[in-house]
Amino acid sequence: MTIPAIPLRAGSTTVEIPQLGFGVWQVSDDEATVAVAEALRVGYRHVDTARIYENETGTGRAVEESGIPRGEVFVTSKLWPSDYTREEALVAFDATMRRLGLEVLDLFLLHWPAPGRGQFVEAWKTLVELRADGRVRAVGVSNFTPAYLRRLAEETGEYPCINQIELHPYLQQRDLRAFHAEHDIVTEAWSPLASGKKVLADPAVGRVAAKHGVTPAQAILGWHLALGNVVIPKSVTPSRIAENFAAGAVRLDEEDIAAFDALDQGFRTGPDPDHFDG
Ligand SMILES: NC(=O)c1ccc[n+]([C@@H]2O[C@H](COP(=O)([O-])OP(=O)(O)OC[C@H]3O[C@@H](n4cnc5c(N)ncnc54)[C@H](OP(=O)(O)O)[C@@H]3O)[C@@H](O)[C@H]2O)c1
Repeated sequence: MTIPAIPLRAGSTTVEIPQLGFGVWQVSDDEATVAVAEALRVGYRHVDTARIYENETGTGRAVEESGIPRGEVFVTSKLWPSDYTREEALVAFDATMRRLGLEVLDLFLLHWPAPGRGQFVEAWKTLVELRADGRVRAVGVSNFTPAYLRRLAEETGEYPCINQIELHPYLQQRDLRAFHAEHDIVTEAWSPLASGKKVLADPAVGRVAAKHGVTPAQAILGWHLALGNVVIPKSVTPSRIAENFAAGAVRLDEEDIAAFDALDQGFRTGPDPDHFDG
Protein backbone atom coordinates (compact mmCIF):
# COMPACT_ATOMS: atom_id res chain seq x y z
CA MET A 1 0.00 0.00 0.00
CA THR A 2 1.24 3.48 -0.83
CA ILE A 3 1.04 5.95 2.05
CA PRO A 4 0.81 9.58 0.89
CA ALA A 5 3.84 11.79 1.46
CA ILE A 6 3.22 15.23 2.96
CA PRO A 7 5.64 18.02 2.05
CA LEU A 8 7.40 19.84 4.88
CA ARG A 9 9.06 23.22 4.38
CA ALA A 10 12.76 22.88 5.16
CA GLY A 11 14.68 26.09 4.48
CA SER A 12 14.96 26.51 0.73
CA THR A 13 13.86 22.94 0.05
CA THR A 14 11.06 20.49 0.86
CA VAL A 15 11.18 17.18 2.72
CA GLU A 16 8.46 14.54 2.44
CA ILE A 17 7.05 12.81 5.52
CA PRO A 18 4.91 9.66 5.16
CA GLN A 19 1.44 10.56 6.44
CA LEU A 20 1.03 7.35 8.46
CA GLY A 21 3.90 6.56 10.82
CA PHE A 22 4.66 4.46 13.91
CA GLY A 23 5.04 5.81 17.47
CA VAL A 24 7.07 4.16 20.24
CA TRP A 25 6.24 6.06 23.44
CA GLN A 26 6.09 3.80 26.53
CA VAL A 27 7.93 1.02 24.72
CA SER A 28 11.15 -0.29 26.30
CA ASP A 29 14.36 -0.16 24.31
CA ASP A 30 14.38 -3.92 23.61
CA GLU A 31 10.68 -3.97 22.85
CA ALA A 32 11.16 -1.04 20.44
CA THR A 33 13.57 -3.11 18.35
CA VAL A 34 10.94 -5.84 18.00
CA ALA A 35 7.98 -3.49 17.42
CA VAL A 36 9.77 -1.22 14.92
CA ALA A 37 11.09 -4.26 13.05
CA GLU A 38 7.52 -5.54 12.77
CA ALA A 39 6.24 -2.12 11.70
CA LEU A 40 8.87 -1.87 8.96
CA ARG A 41 8.11 -5.42 7.89
CA VAL A 42 4.41 -4.64 7.35
CA GLY A 43 5.19 -1.46 5.43
CA TYR A 44 5.57 1.58 7.73
CA ARG A 45 8.39 3.87 6.60
CA HIS A 46 8.16 6.48 9.36
CA VAL A 47 9.10 6.05 13.02
CA ASP A 48 8.57 8.56 15.85
CA THR A 49 10.79 8.39 18.93
CA ALA A 50 12.28 10.87 21.44
CA ARG A 51 15.17 11.07 23.88
CA ILE A 52 12.72 10.91 26.79
CA TYR A 53 11.26 7.57 25.55
CA GLU A 54 14.64 5.93 26.23
CA ASN A 55 14.31 3.74 23.17
CA GLU A 56 16.32 5.56 20.49
CA THR A 57 18.93 2.77 20.58
CA GLY A 58 16.36 0.02 20.06
CA THR A 59 14.58 2.03 17.39
CA GLY A 60 17.79 2.77 15.48
CA ARG A 61 18.81 -0.88 15.71
CA ALA A 62 15.57 -1.98 14.04
CA VAL A 63 16.02 0.58 11.25
CA GLU A 64 19.59 -0.60 10.68
CA GLU A 65 18.76 -4.32 10.82
CA SER A 66 15.77 -3.96 8.48
CA GLY A 67 18.13 -3.57 5.55
CA ILE A 68 15.77 -0.96 4.09
CA PRO A 69 17.80 1.79 2.40
CA ARG A 70 18.27 4.67 4.85
CA GLY A 71 16.63 7.15 2.48
CA GLU A 72 13.39 5.15 2.56
CA VAL A 73 12.75 5.33 6.32
CA PHE A 74 11.75 8.63 7.91
CA VAL A 75 12.98 8.97 11.51
CA THR A 76 11.81 11.63 13.96
CA SER A 77 13.27 12.37 17.39
CA LYS A 78 12.74 15.16 19.89
CA LEU A 79 14.70 17.44 22.19
CA TRP A 80 13.56 17.45 25.83
CA PRO A 81 13.12 20.89 27.53
CA SER A 82 15.90 20.23 30.06
CA ASP A 83 18.29 20.57 27.08
CA TYR A 84 17.07 23.87 25.61
CA THR A 85 20.20 26.05 25.87
CA ARG A 86 22.26 26.02 22.66
CA GLU A 87 25.10 24.11 24.26
CA GLU A 88 22.82 21.52 25.88
CA ALA A 89 20.84 21.07 22.67
CA LEU A 90 23.94 20.37 20.58
CA VAL A 91 25.20 17.81 23.10
CA ALA A 92 21.74 16.20 23.35
CA PHE A 93 21.45 16.03 19.56
CA ASP A 94 24.82 14.28 19.26
CA ALA A 95 23.75 11.77 21.91
CA THR A 96 20.45 11.15 20.11
CA MET A 97 22.30 10.51 16.85
CA ARG A 98 24.78 8.17 18.54
CA ARG A 99 21.92 6.16 20.03
CA LEU A 100 19.98 6.07 16.75
CA GLY A 101 23.16 5.20 14.84
CA LEU A 102 22.28 7.73 12.13
CA GLU A 103 24.31 10.33 10.26
CA VAL A 104 21.39 12.58 9.38
CA LEU A 105 18.02 12.82 11.14
CA ASP A 106 14.86 13.37 9.08
CA LEU A 107 12.95 15.45 11.62
CA PHE A 108 13.94 16.92 14.98
CA LEU A 109 11.27 18.50 17.20
CA LEU A 110 11.21 20.65 20.32
CA HIS A 111 9.21 18.28 22.53
CA TRP A 112 7.31 20.92 24.57
CA PRO A 113 7.36 24.73 24.69
CA ALA A 114 7.94 24.54 28.48
CA PRO A 115 7.07 28.25 28.89
CA GLY A 116 8.23 28.36 32.52
CA ARG A 117 11.80 27.66 31.42
CA GLY A 118 11.75 30.55 28.93
CA GLN A 119 14.22 28.84 26.58
CA PHE A 120 12.26 27.56 23.60
CA VAL A 121 13.35 30.38 21.25
CA GLU A 122 17.03 29.59 21.90
CA ALA A 123 16.31 25.89 21.37
CA TRP A 124 14.46 26.62 18.13
CA LYS A 125 17.38 28.68 16.78
CA THR A 126 19.69 25.75 17.55
CA LEU A 127 17.45 23.37 15.61
CA VAL A 128 17.50 25.74 12.62
CA GLU A 129 21.30 25.79 12.91
CA LEU A 130 21.41 21.96 12.87
CA ARG A 131 19.30 22.00 9.71
CA ALA A 132 21.58 24.60 8.09
CA ASP A 133 24.55 22.34 8.93
CA GLY A 134 22.86 19.44 7.15
CA ARG A 135 22.56 17.28 10.27
CA VAL A 136 18.75 17.34 10.25
CA ARG A 137 16.58 17.50 7.13
CA ALA A 138 13.59 19.25 8.73
CA VAL A 139 12.90 20.83 12.11
CA GLY A 140 9.64 21.39 13.92
CA VAL A 141 7.91 21.55 17.26
CA SER A 142 5.50 19.61 19.42
CA ASN A 143 2.77 20.80 21.77
CA PHE A 144 3.06 24.44 20.68
CA THR A 145 0.05 26.78 20.87
CA PRO A 146 -0.52 29.70 18.45
CA ALA A 147 1.07 32.12 20.95
CA TYR A 148 4.32 30.12 21.06
CA LEU A 149 4.32 29.52 17.30
CA ARG A 150 3.88 33.26 16.70
CA ARG A 151 6.77 33.98 19.04
CA LEU A 152 9.08 31.72 16.99
CA ALA A 153 8.02 33.40 13.75
CA GLU A 154 8.59 36.85 15.27
CA GLU A 155 12.04 35.94 16.56
CA THR A 156 13.31 34.01 13.53
CA GLY A 157 11.06 34.98 10.61
CA GLU A 158 10.02 31.37 10.12
CA TYR A 159 7.16 29.23 11.40
CA PRO A 160 8.00 25.60 12.12
CA CYS A 161 6.93 23.31 9.26
CA ILE A 162 5.13 20.88 11.59
CA ASN A 163 3.56 20.83 15.06
CA GLN A 164 2.99 17.45 16.71
CA ILE A 165 0.02 17.81 19.07
CA GLU A 166 -2.38 15.67 21.04
CA LEU A 167 -5.25 15.13 18.61
CA HIS A 168 -8.00 12.51 18.45
CA PRO A 169 -11.80 12.48 18.11
CA TYR A 170 -12.27 13.65 21.72
CA LEU A 171 -9.71 16.50 21.32
CA GLN A 172 -10.06 17.79 17.78
CA GLN A 173 -8.02 21.02 18.14
CA ARG A 174 -10.02 22.92 15.51
CA ASP A 175 -8.61 26.38 16.29
CA LEU A 176 -5.04 25.15 16.33
CA ARG A 177 -5.54 23.24 13.06
CA ALA A 178 -6.97 26.38 11.45
CA PHE A 179 -3.92 28.34 12.63
CA HIS A 180 -1.65 25.66 11.16
CA ALA A 181 -3.47 25.82 7.82
CA GLU A 182 -3.11 29.60 7.73
CA HIS A 183 0.67 29.39 8.27
CA ASP A 184 1.53 26.30 6.21
CA ILE A 185 2.25 24.21 9.31
CA VAL A 186 1.56 20.48 8.99
CA THR A 187 -0.53 19.02 11.83
CA GLU A 188 0.82 15.79 13.30
CA ALA A 189 -1.44 13.90 15.71
CA TRP A 190 -0.01 12.24 18.81
CA SER A 191 -2.10 9.77 20.80
CA PRO A 192 -4.28 9.53 17.67
CA LEU A 193 -6.29 6.75 19.35
CA ALA A 194 -6.42 8.70 22.63
CA SER A 195 -3.89 6.16 23.95
CA GLY A 196 -6.33 3.32 23.36
CA LYS A 197 -8.82 4.71 25.88
CA LYS A 198 -12.58 4.95 25.64
CA VAL A 199 -12.72 6.58 22.18
CA LEU A 200 -12.19 3.14 20.64
CA ALA A 201 -15.44 2.01 22.26
CA ASP A 202 -17.44 5.08 21.23
CA PRO A 203 -20.72 3.98 19.57
CA ALA A 204 -20.43 6.63 16.82
CA VAL A 205 -16.94 5.40 15.95
CA GLY A 206 -18.33 1.86 15.96
CA ARG A 207 -21.06 2.83 13.47
CA VAL A 208 -18.56 4.37 11.02
CA ALA A 209 -16.31 1.32 11.41
CA ALA A 210 -19.19 -1.10 10.76
CA LYS A 211 -20.32 0.87 7.70
CA HIS A 212 -16.87 0.46 6.13
CA GLY A 213 -16.20 -3.04 7.44
CA VAL A 214 -13.14 -1.87 9.39
CA THR A 215 -12.14 -1.80 13.08
CA PRO A 216 -12.74 1.25 15.33
CA ALA A 217 -9.01 2.02 15.34
CA GLN A 218 -8.95 1.93 11.54
CA ALA A 219 -11.98 4.25 11.36
CA ILE A 220 -10.26 6.73 13.67
CA LEU A 221 -7.00 6.58 11.71
CA GLY A 222 -9.02 6.98 8.48
CA TRP A 223 -10.53 10.13 10.00
CA HIS A 224 -7.06 11.55 10.75
CA LEU A 225 -5.90 10.82 7.20
CA ALA A 226 -9.04 12.45 5.77
CA LEU A 227 -8.30 15.61 7.80
CA GLY A 228 -4.77 15.66 6.33
CA ASN A 229 -3.03 14.94 9.64
CA VAL A 230 0.24 13.10 9.85
CA VAL A 231 -0.57 10.32 12.31
CA ILE A 232 1.66 8.03 14.40
CA PRO A 233 -0.29 5.28 16.21
CA LYS A 234 1.68 3.13 18.67
CA SER A 235 1.27 -0.56 19.27
CA VAL A 236 3.46 -3.42 20.47
CA THR A 237 0.89 -5.98 19.31
CA PRO A 238 1.75 -7.40 15.86
CA SER A 239 -1.90 -7.76 14.79
CA ARG A 240 -2.61 -4.13 15.73
CA ILE A 241 0.60 -2.89 14.09
CA ALA A 242 -0.68 -4.40 10.83
CA GLU A 243 -4.28 -3.32 11.47
CA ASN A 244 -3.23 0.30 11.96
CA PHE A 245 -1.08 0.32 8.84
CA ALA A 246 -3.97 -1.10 6.80
CA ALA A 247 -5.99 1.98 7.83
CA GLY A 248 -4.06 3.71 5.05
CA ALA A 249 -6.69 2.28 2.69
CA VAL A 250 -9.73 3.60 4.63
CA ARG A 251 -11.67 6.34 2.82
CA LEU A 252 -14.31 8.11 4.90
CA ASP A 253 -17.08 10.19 3.34
CA GLU A 254 -18.64 13.48 4.42
CA GLU A 255 -21.29 11.77 6.52
CA ASP A 256 -18.58 9.92 8.46
CA ILE A 257 -16.57 13.10 8.97
CA ALA A 258 -19.71 14.83 10.29
CA ALA A 259 -20.24 11.95 12.75
CA PHE A 260 -16.66 12.41 14.02
CA ASP A 261 -17.10 16.21 14.19
CA ALA A 262 -19.79 15.72 16.84
CA LEU A 263 -17.45 13.80 19.19
CA ASP A 264 -15.14 16.64 20.24
CA GLN A 265 -15.22 17.14 24.01
CA GLY A 266 -11.89 18.81 24.81
CA PHE A 267 -10.62 15.65 26.52
CA ARG A 268 -6.85 15.63 27.04
CA THR A 269 -4.95 12.46 27.92
CA GLY A 270 -1.70 14.43 28.37
CA PRO A 271 -0.60 17.73 29.95
CA ASP A 272 -1.73 21.21 28.95
CA PRO A 273 1.29 22.79 27.17
CA ASP A 274 0.77 26.10 28.99
CA HIS A 275 1.34 24.38 32.33
CA PHE A 276 4.04 21.80 31.63
CA ASP A 277 7.76 22.49 31.81
CA GLY A 278 9.11 18.97 31.35
N1 LIG B 1 4.94 14.80 21.30
C1 LIG B 1 4.40 14.35 22.40
O1 LIG B 1 4.36 15.03 23.44
C2 LIG B 1 3.81 12.98 22.40
C3 LIG B 1 3.05 12.54 23.50
C4 LIG B 1 2.50 11.26 23.45
C5 LIG B 1 2.71 10.46 22.36
N2 LIG B 1 3.49 10.90 21.30
C6 LIG B 1 3.74 10.06 20.10
O2 LIG B 1 2.51 9.59 19.59
C7 LIG B 1 2.55 8.16 19.53
C8 LIG B 1 1.16 7.58 19.69
O3 LIG B 1 0.58 8.01 20.90
P1 LIG B 1 0.26 7.01 22.14
O4 LIG B 1 1.30 5.96 22.17
O5 LIG B 1 0.07 7.84 23.32
O6 LIG B 1 -1.16 6.45 21.85
P2 LIG B 1 -2.09 5.87 20.68
O7 LIG B 1 -1.32 5.55 19.46
O8 LIG B 1 -3.22 6.82 20.60
O9 LIG B 1 -2.60 4.55 21.37
C9 LIG B 1 -1.73 3.51 21.76
C10 LIG B 1 -2.50 2.57 22.65
O10 LIG B 1 -3.60 2.02 21.93
C11 LIG B 1 -3.46 0.63 21.81
N3 LIG B 1 -3.77 0.30 20.40
C12 LIG B 1 -3.02 0.59 19.32
N4 LIG B 1 -3.62 0.16 18.20
C13 LIG B 1 -4.78 -0.41 18.58
C14 LIG B 1 -5.81 -1.05 17.88
N5 LIG B 1 -5.76 -1.19 16.55
N6 LIG B 1 -6.88 -1.51 18.58
C15 LIG B 1 -6.93 -1.37 19.94
N7 LIG B 1 -5.97 -0.79 20.66
C16 LIG B 1 -4.90 -0.30 19.99
C17 LIG B 1 -2.02 0.30 22.15
O11 LIG B 1 -1.92 -0.96 22.77
P3 LIG B 1 -0.74 -2.04 22.47
O12 LIG B 1 0.53 -1.29 22.28
O13 LIG B 1 -0.76 -2.85 23.73
O14 LIG B 1 -1.16 -2.81 21.26
C18 LIG B 1 -1.70 1.41 23.14
O15 LIG B 1 -2.17 1.07 24.42
C19 LIG B 1 3.52 7.80 20.65
O16 LIG B 1 3.97 6.48 20.57
C20 LIG B 1 4.59 8.84 20.43
O17 LIG B 1 5.41 8.48 19.34
C21 LIG B 1 4.03 12.14 21.32
